[in-house]
Amino acid sequence: MTKSSLTSFFLPGILILAIYMTGCGEKPAEKSSAPLPPLIEESQLVQPKEIAPPQPVVVSEKTRETYQWYCAQCHGTKGKGDGVNSKFLTVPPRNHTKADYMETRTDEQFFEAIKFGGLSVGRAPCMPAWGNTLEDSTIHELVRYIRELCQCEAL
Ligand code: HEC
Repeated sequence: MTKSSLTSFFLPGILILAIYMTGCGEKPAEKSSAPLPPLIEESQLVQPKEIAPPQPVVVSEKTRETYQWYCAQCHGTKGKGDGVNSKFLTVPPRNHTKADYMETRTDEQFFEAIKFGGLSVGRAPCMPAWGNTLEDSTIHELVRYIRELCQCEAL
């Protein structure tokens, strides 16, 4: 059983127990002016794990090389969509420097396009999927690198 399914299995039990222990199953005393006891004691509350602030993604030298190695053949060494393979494709590779298109797409869309291929974001299948080749962290860096190329952010 996974951790999250364990939690979802036990949480209702804990809540029912808490309700039972705080006497919520009984009828409330009528017209009592005393404040009602809290449903759950502070100590019984399950605190969500502190969510780490998103780390700024830094584009490593290795990721810049990855772009040259895997992407430049279609997208061009400078990302202008003019790689050596570009003329053989039915749909031209995206020009990653063209801000007026690039800013209409979100980082998530770029991430998905790279990980799962063009089709996954309603683009041409000649943009291959890299999920089996590249780590997610590298793909996040590639998205940042592409944002460097267009010098733009999602609008
Ligand atoms: C075989 C050629 C080819 C290779 C290799 C390739 N791409 Fe593409 N890519 C394309 C084509 C073609 C499109 C345009 C799809 C369209 O506009 O429908 C595209 C589009 C994209 C887009 C834009 C998706 C969108 O939302 O419009 C991104 C981002 C992208 N590629 C990143 C990469 C990265 C990063 C790599 C290397 C890991 C890579 N591509 C390798 C052909 C390729």
